[in-house]
Amino acid sequence: MIQVPWAIPADLFCRTKVESTSAACSHDRLDPQAAGRAAPDADGSRSMDEPLLRVRGLEAGYGDVQVLWGIDLDVPRNTIVSIVGSNGAGKTTLLLTLSGMVRVTRGSWEFDGKDLTGRSASEIVKEGVSHVPEGRRLFKALSVRDNLLLGAYHRHDRPGILHDFDFVYSIFPILKERSTQDASTLSGGEQQMCAIGRGIMARPKLLIIDELSLGLAPAVAEALAESLLKIRAQNMSVLLVEQDVATAFEISDYGYVLDSGRVSLHGPSRELLEKSAVRDAYLGM
Ligand SMILES: Nc1ncnc2c1ncn2[C@@H]1O[C@H](COP(=O)(O)OP(=O)(O)O)[C@@H](O)[C@H]1O
Ligand SMILES: [Mg+2]
Repeated sequence: MIQVPWAIPADLFCRTKVESTSAACSHDRLDPQAAGRAAPDADGSRSMDEPLLRVRGLEAGYGDVQVLWGIDLDVPRNTIVSIVGSNGAGKTTLLLTLSGMVRVTRGSWEFDGKDLTGRSASEIVKEGVSHVPEGRRLFKALSVRDNLLLGAYHRHDRPGILHDFDFVYSIFPILKERSTQDASTLSGGEQQMCAIGRGIMARPKLLIIDELSLGLAPAVAEALAESLLKIRAQNMSVLLVEQDVATAFEISDYGYVLDSGRVSLHGPSRELLEKSAVRDAYLGM
C-alpha cells in the first residue's frame, strides 16, 4: 500500500499490483451535494462580474534574465482563455509565475478577489489554481488512478474526491479502463488526459494547461480540446497555452498573443482569428 503523507484517505489509493482487486479501486456512489460545492462565491460577497484572475503589470524572469514585461491579463469566470505566441515568447514563464514556481519581480495578480502575488505554489493550489505542466509529468511508477489521486493531495472531502473521479472518467473513459495500469504504459494522448484529470482532481476554479496538444495526433488533440468545454461547464475556467492557434482560438472565449514577454494583441478569440496579424503570423494565410 502506498504511504500517503497528505490529507487524502489512504484507502482511496489503489493497492499494488499483487494486492489489487477491482473492489479495492471501485468507487462509492456519487455525493449529490458535490456539484453544489463547486458553485463559486457561496458567500455572495464578490461580484460575479469581476474576473476570476486579474494580472496587472506582471514582470518575472530567471535571475538577471527578465522574460515578462508588464503583462495585463484577465480570465473571467467560467471561460476558456488562450495564450498563443512563438517559441520563447514567455508563455510557460507566465503560467509558472501564476503557479508560484517563478518569482514575480514587479506587478501583481489577484485570484478570486485575493492578492496571490508572491504566494507559494502549495498555497496557490489551495486557493483553486491547478497547473497541467508542459510534458505532463506523470509519476511513472504509479497507476493511472493514483496519479489522478495525487491531484487531490490537499483535499479532505472523500465524497467530493469520488465525485471528481467520476467526472474525470466521464470525460476520459479510457482512463477508467486503464485505471490500474502504470501511467508509463499510456499513449501520449492518454497521458495528457491523465495530466488534465490530475489537475481536475484538485477541484480548481482555474485550470492552467501548458501545451495541450503538443506532439499529439490531430484527432486526439481535437478530443482534448472538446474536453475543455465540458470542464468549463463544471464551473471551472481554463487558461490554455496551445501551439495550434486555430484550435486555441476556436475553442476559447478570449485570446492573448504574447510576443517577447509582452501582450501584443488580445480580444475575443473569434475576432482574433480574423485579424491579419494573427492570420499572417500563425495561420499561414
Ligand atoms: N529556467 C530558465 N532559465 C533561464 N531562462 C529561461 C528558463 N526557462 C525559460 N527561459 C527563457 O525564457 C524565455 C521564455 O521561455 P518560455 O517561457 O519557456 O517561452 P514559451 O513557453 O513561450 O516558449 C526564453 O528566452 C527562454 O530561453
Ligand atoms: Mg512553453
